[in-house]
This record gives sequence, C-alpha cells and structure tokens, in this order.
Amino acid sequence: MGKVYVFDHPLIQHKLTYIRDKRTGTKEFRELVDEVATLMAFEITRDLPLDDVEVETPVTTAKAKVLSGKKLGIVPILRAGIGMVDGILKLMPAAKVGHIGLYRDPETLQPIEYYVKLPADVEERDFILVDPMLATGGSAIAAINSLKSRGAKNIKFMCLIAAPEGVEVIKQLHPDVDIYIAALDEKLDDHGYIVPGLGDAGDRLFGTK
Ligand code: PRP
Ligand code: URA
Repeated sequence: MGKVYVFDHPLIQHKLTYIRDKRTGTKEFRELVDEVATLMAFEITRDLPLDDVEVETPVTTAKAKVLSGKKLGIVPILRAGIGMVDGILKLMPAAKVGHIGLYRDPETLQPIEYYVKLPADVEERDFILVDPMLATGGSAIAAINSLKSRGAKNIKFMCLIAAPEGVEVIKQLHPDVDIYIAALDEKLDDHGYIVPGLGDAGDRLFGTK
C-alpha cells in the first residue's frame, strides 16, 4: 500500500493558511503556491541517492557526498499544477518537465484528457506528478494511468490539499504511488469541492472566473 506523507512543517502550514484565505489575491496566491512547492520539494527529495566523493578543501581532503544524478521528471496536471513547477525547479533545475492536460467535467466530475507531452526517456525517469488539489481523485488517477501507459515506473504524487476520498482511491488503484500533501482536509461537498479547501485552484492561480 502506498504511503501518505503530510508535511506539517510550520512554514508550509503558515503559508497554506494564506493560500486558503479567500481574501488572498492572484499575485500573492501564485507566490505562496510557488513557495510551498519549493518547501515540499525539499522534503520529497530526502531519499535521493548520493555518491561518495573526495573533495579538496583549503585544509585537507574530505570524504563527501554528491547527488548520484538520478533522472527526474516533474509533471504538472494542467492547469493548476503549473503553479507548482517553478517552485520545484528551484531545487531540481535539471529535471525535465512533462505536461498532462486534464479538466474535470463540471457535471460528471470525470476527468477529460486533452494534452500529454512527456520526456522521451519516460522509462528511465522518476516522476513527481503535481496538482494543488486531490479531490475525488479522478484527475490524479487518469494522470497516473497516462504516465504508466507510457512506461513510467516510479511516480510520486504531490499536492497541497487532499480530500480523504482522493487519497483512498490512489491507495486502492495505485498502491505503488506514494502521496505527499500539505494538508488532509475533511471531505468533499456536493460539487466535488474540497471542504474547507481553498476553492478552485486554477481560477485562483490564473485569475479566471
Ligand atoms: C482541479 C484540480 C485537479 C482536479 C481535482 O482541476 O487542479 O486537477 O480539479 O479534482 P478531482 O480530484 O476530483 O479530479 P480542474 O479540473 O478544475 O481544471 P483546471 O486545473 O484546468 O482548473
Ligand atoms: N478542484 C479544485 O480546484 N478545488 C477543489 O476543491 C476541488 C477540485
């Protein structure tokens, strides 16, 4: 069964409060999402493999570590996932970025896929799939299916706010995918919105609606 990590770091929790606040405007919302994505990326990369090296300091030779150069891919689920990409790239500037375009049909809540573009060497990369919101889980499941059908073998899913329903469906359908979240909220409302949540992440990021 996949593991679920809730990042309760004080900086993440503080910034998330302002992300949730309905008075936070587009500019600040975007900046905060970017900052939280960086902080989450710091936590999510704890298990990156290291190689032993020797380095000449001005004093002597030291045994030290460098990243072993694992190939990474970041994949935002469009649109709202885009808001998290730059924040992650600040810590992993060499990562390749793929895109999966999905929107939720407002009536059925089913995800509709409209765009997929991934790095050519999908099978060799470890992927971080990102989206601020995990609600019913339909979009995340469709995106994970899309990545796996193209050869991805190692996927982590990272989001800001998750509903219990979304977490459960990923655990059931993709037990190999670990989930990294900043907050696990209470429930979904009748329209599939997370309660208390932050509203519509795409609209708040891009100033639409
Ligand atoms: C939102 C959000 C997720 C999805 C979550 O996107 O960014 O992708 O809903 O809901 P789910 O877990 O029930 O599938 P939306 O469909 O509103 O598209 P947008 O990012 O283009 O605004
Ligand atoms: N998508 C959002 O943007 N917000 C929600 O609460 C649920 C789905």
